Amino acid sequence: MASLTLRGRGVDFPKDDEWNTPPEAWIDIKEYIPNKVIWEPFMLNNKTSTSITTLQEMGFEVLGNSTDDFFETNKGEVIVSNPPFSIKGKVIKRLYELDKPFIVILPISTLSQIQFKKYFTDKIQIIIPKRRIQFMKNEEQLKRSFFDVIYYCYKCDLPKDIIFL
Ligand SMILES: C[S@@+](CC[C@H](N)C(=O)[O-])C[C@H]1O[C@@H](n2cnc3c(N)ncnc32)[C@H](O)[C@@H]1O
Repeated sequence: MASLTLRGRGVDFPKDDEWNTPPEAWIDIKEYIPNKVIWEPFMLNNKTSTSITTLQEMGFEVLGNSTDDFFETNKGEVIVSNPPFSIKGKVIKRLYELDKPFIVILPISTLSQIQFKKYFTDKIQIIIPKRRIQFMKNEEQLKRSFFDVIYYCYKCDLPKDIIFL
């Protein structure tokens, strides 16, 4: 998928949302994930979601499939996912409209993005990973991510607003 380009460090990168989430990204925050029916919505036209597999293996009930469009579907009691970063503004607006608890992984820079300020000021709690999360391509973990991501949590009743793992 290379129809758009994203800019980073003065270089153009092809738009590519097809990155899977390494299992440890969810295992590391197990204690903070609400014990409710999870919707992992982001796997449109994708054969696998490592998030779904991992969360199921951790014992959670997880809904989600490859024909659901996030913008036209509403399932489960809590959203736990790794959204496509290229449309994060639209995703944040939709999360606001759904108004259900969520934990989503997004770049740390998203915190100062206009949509977050507009919809979630004073309502977001964050979890900072121990180390930079490296995403997976075709089951291989490529250690080349040049930006940090954090967990954005809404209505999850975390014990503190900022948690450093
Ligand atoms: C960062 S990947 C996460 C993949 C997988 N859910 C995981 O965590 O391993 C984001 C995924 O969202 C999918 N996606 C893009 N637009 C979508 C939409 N409107 N509804 C649902 N999924 C979408 C992309 O195809 C991509 O597979």
